[in-house]
Amino acid sequence: MNNPIHYREAEPLLRIQNVGLTLNGQVILRDVNAEILDVIRDVDEVDRVNKVKQGQVIGFLGRSGIGKTQLFRILAGLQKPTTGQVLLGEQGIPVERGMVGVVAQNYILFDKRTILSNLMIAATQAGDTKQVAKERAMTMLERFKLTDKANAYPKQLSGGQRQRIAIAQQILCNNHYLLMDEPFSGLDLVMKGKVSELIQEIAQMDEKNTIIVVTHDVSEASSVADELWLMGRDRDSDGNEIAGSKIKMTYDLKVRGLAWQPGITLTREFLDFTTEVKEKFLSL
Ligand SMILES: Nc1ncnc2c1ncn2[C@@H]1O[C@H](COP(=O)(O)OP(=O)(O)OP(=O)(O)O)[C@@H](O)[C@H]1O
Ligand SMILES: [Mg+2]
Repeated sequence: MNNPIHYREAEPLLRIQNVGLTLNGQVILRDVNAEILDVIRDVDEVDRVNKVKQGQVIGFLGRSGIGKTQLFRILAGLQKPTTGQVLLGEQGIPVERGMVGVVAQNYILFDKRTILSNLMIAATQAGDTKQVAKERAMTMLERFKLTDKANAYPKQLSGGQRQRIAIAQQILCNNHYLLMDEPFSGLDLVMKGKVSELIQEIAQMDEKNTIIVVTHDVSEASSVADELWLMGRDRDSDGNEIAGSKIKMTYDLKVRGLAWQPGITLTREFLDFTTEVKEKFLSL
């Protein structure tokens, strides 16, 4: 089940170049560099790995306060970095607000509109007719077991329910890039499973789909990701942390044969891997 799969990496989908961020004189991020390349599977491998998804999921890990949300905002074009840039696609277009779908830590819904209407706005913005938008929105509500909330208002939902709606909203937008900040927080086990499944499904829809999932939970990140990015800080020669976080480590789960596939999280190799990452995580 966990044989390494042969991949070739092609053109860049997203590049983070020398990103730095200083807020109110405080260095938050320093020299952040990373790249997501389109992945092409070798054709003769397709039958063997047809359960492996097409697009990519990046699990973005770091302890609380390290700067995940700040980098997330930069990746989404919501915050301008102090130095460096984020480029999208083969053409390397500098990211701007609206080019990337975002499920933020605080989910934004229109309070004065019903849940169904909130979802329909997302779908019509992506180009659907009203009829199609309604059908797609209702399908999403069914998926998340929220059909009975179609005519409710955001204030009438629990935190976890709002979160599921926010995720559904972004999926309906049909964006190739989707950033999710702590999508699993506040969800019970069943809903965590559903969100994982959905992340996989979006990734499978299109080879160019790229989903970045921000979390501080190593097991959750590893269970959905093809690649992990770990944030941390450098240390000086006395062992003291230098201000400004960066991506210190990346792990390629595809190369290790651990990228998402049914049952993978129950294997010995997967458990050994998450233990290794957790140890590293604590040392960064
Ligand atoms: N406007 C601001 N001015 C100065 N510092 C800020 C500002 N906003 C956030 N910070 C600091 O930036 C650092 C990174 O914050 P960020 O929200 O990105 O952390 P995080 O990794 O997402 O944490 P968590 O896992 O708790 O969500 C923190 O030390 C925070 O205090
Ligand atoms: Mg955060």
